[in-house]
Amino acid sequence: MAPPPPASARANSTAARDIASVLHPYTDQIAHKEIGPVVISRGKGVRVWDDSGKEYIESVAGLWCASLGFDNERLAKAAYDQLRTLPFYHGFTAKSHEPMIELAEMLLARAPVPMSKAFFANSGSEANDTAIKMIWYVNNSLGRPRKKKLIGRIRGYHGITLASSSLTGLPANHRSFDVPLPGFVHTIAPHHYHGAEAGESEEDFATRCADELEKLILAEDPDTVAAMFAEPVMGAGGVIVPPRTYFEKIQKVLRKYDVLLVADEVICGFGRTGNYWGSQTFGVEPDILTCAKALSASFVPISAVMVNQRVFDALAEESHRIGTFGHGYTYSGHPVSAAVAVETMKIYDEINIVEHVRGVGAHLQAELRRRFADHPLVGEVRGVGLIAAVELVADKATRANFDPAQKIGPRFTRLGEQHGVIGRAMTGDTLAFSPPLIITEAEVDEMLDRFGRALEELTGQLRREKLAVVG
Ligand SMILES: Cc1ncc(COP(=O)(O)O)c(C=O)c1O
Repeated sequence: MAPPPPASARANSTAARDIASVLHPYTDQIAHKEIGPVVISRGKGVRVWDDSGKEYIESVAGLWCASLGFDNERLAKAAYDQLRTLPFYHGFTAKSHEPMIELAEMLLARAPVPMSKAFFANSGSEANDTAIKMIWYVNNSLGRPRKKKLIGRIRGYHGITLASSSLTGLPANHRSFDVPLPGFVHTIAPHHYHGAEAGESEEDFATRCADELEKLILAEDPDTVAAMFAEPVMGAGGVIVPPRTYFEKIQKVLRKYDVLLVADEVICGFGRTGNYWGSQTFGVEPDILTCAKALSASFVPISAVMVNQRVFDALAEESHRIGTFGHGYTYSGHPVSAAVAVETMKIYDEINIVEHVRGVGAHLQAELRRRFADHPLVGEVRGVGLIAAVELVADKATRANFDPAQKIGPRFTRLGEQHGVIGRAMTGDTLAFSPPLIITEAEVDEMLDRFGRALEELTGQLRREKLAVVG
């Protein structure tokens, strides 16, 4: 007799098929067997629907990325037209194509500081990995082979490839993966709410952050420190908005020791913070800039690395000396991705995305504070433009977080889904908001109504369980 079919073939629901076949990123694989997936089947505007027909507002635009929402005819057409004209070509050995060239020109024209060239990859992690390799290559070119260490920040997030996860400063991305690799060090997070001493002003805290950075560089030996990576606003680490004067002071230290600065604009780029780049919002003057996500409104994978003239010149010299810049992905500047990204940036210009974010972002920030800042479970409401967070605390007076084992953030996320809002809980039970940039004020209100209902339900539960100081 033939053996019985495997479980995956017997399973007939979408959820059962998922459990039987998919290894999910960022998921407890054992708990998943019990809880199962939320299967999303379609989207429109700021909303998505699951396979039972339930509708949700996507309060984080998927993964901080679906900037134009979950449908767009122009982007679909741009992809289709390019698929019919030239579905694939590459940039190796000096090959090129129009969509890649046009995209590079558009990025360079919009860069927050003068940039010389754009290189393309497929994800934020790959863009940061590329930047790391470029920095090592450039310092070999400049005859300083010891100057190779990279500085990230505690709570910074730069991706999950070997090198970018080493830059990342989050325990969940390090534990059991044997990273960070040697040569990656981390400085303190610029989080005033938890990091500042009693009575310390934002400016004084920023000075202390810069002092800590300088101490780290001196301890490591400045001749061995190559670059620092920083998100203008830390995203996955908890939406940490830097204290006033932070980047000004940090950059002074970096220049003193000839340490390059890489702005990781993977979340902040393309309007999120109320300027085209987060670098403009916070006075960041990077030598290298990485971006992804909203670059193509996330309709297709693509990321970019922009480098300034000094970096490019050294890189070019080395490539000439050894015969090639031996780095590139099969899909670097993929024509379909590039064509969609070009169309995305045209749409941003036409709808004046920056002005839109300033208006609706001010509404989001004001409403979040008005509705939730005084709530007994809410320690801090923070954010800028259309990126924000509500941090839940066990005790508002002492700012004590919940015991991570209680998994309050994930519990809230599930309640949010029941109330029709898909959100994201990060370290420290911080709930993120990063909706599609096209969200309207009325949709912000609806999203916060749903969020508020979930928060009330959680508050009731925690009160009954005596897990928080909630009066
Ligand atoms: C700031 C930042 N950098 C890098 C990445 C990694 O991007 P990807 O997931 O596309 O590799 C992310 C992803 O969320 C990010 O938020």
